[in-house]
Amino acid sequence: MSYESEFRIWRGEGGEGGFTSYRVEVEEGEVVLDLVHRLQATQAPDLAVRWNCKAGKCGSCSAEVNGRPRLLCMTRMSTLPAGEPVVLTPLRAFPSVRDLVTDVSFNYAKAREVASFAAPAGLAPGEYRMRQEDVERPQEFRKCIECFLCQDTCHAVRDHEENKAAFAGPRFLMRVAELDLHPLDAAAEQGLDRRDAAKEEHGLGYCNITKCCTEVCPEHIRITDNALIPLKERVADRRYDPLVWLGAKIGLRPRD
Ligand code: SF4
Ligand code: SF4
Ligand code: FES
Repeated sequence: MSYESEFRIWRGEGGEGGFTSYRVEVEEGEVVLDLVHRLQATQAPDLAVRWNCKAGKCGSCSAEVNGRPRLLCMTRMSTLPAGEPVVLTPLRAFPSVRDLVTDVSFNYAKAREVASFAAPAGLAPGEYRMRQEDVERPQEFRKCIECFLCQDTCHAVRDHEENKAAFAGPRFLMRVAELDLHPLDAAAEQGLDRRDAAKEEHGLGYCNITKCCTEVCPEHIRITDNALIPLKERVADRRYDPLVWLGAKIGLRPRD
């Protein structure tokens, strides 16, 4: 059964703008992105929104629905409070480009700061062998669609612009955690200590494990419990366990 709903959408450019209200017909089973498309087709042809797959897989339709970071294509109208306006705003943690589109290049810069997998010496691709449990452990992290909802919601970024230079945010600390767990990663042999880097270069200490990132992840990745907290524990073990510290000094590779 169809019904009419009010949408209040932030319209503007470069951070300057305000809310415009629209009334639009909603059909059963529709998601918020359907209504944005209907508004584009009928009332607001110049409304800017970013999207690609409409299937929760490309990570590009990220915005805020009633103040909560969400994928527009995965937010069913039936899950929103009935009879209340639907408020759409761009991701708050990143600079506004226009309407619902933000400049997420902060995240690409942070991605580049994480050193990529270091290939082990003496093994060609195709000769790598890993235990099945080592394959499965980071599999969860690899479900990431890079929607950056976790980056947007993390208060260390969202409320503290000044932290951005020193803090990579949950998505990229999760990447560091994944590489730190990789049994074939040869970063240590090549002079890069991933645990030190997590702390010194990627700002692991800014995370105070509030789990807000986990709550908004559309892939249901347990970012805090499975990536950030264990990474913090491994960094702390390194720092405070005298045997681990001594082993590191004399060149023994730390164990998980
Ligand atoms: S758990 Fe850490 S990274 Fe995640 S939102 Fe909280 S402070 Fe940010
Ligand atoms: S970890 Fe989850 S919330 Fe963060 S970018 Fe990846 S899919 Fe999005
Ligand atoms: S359009 Fe691809 S995740 Fe929403």
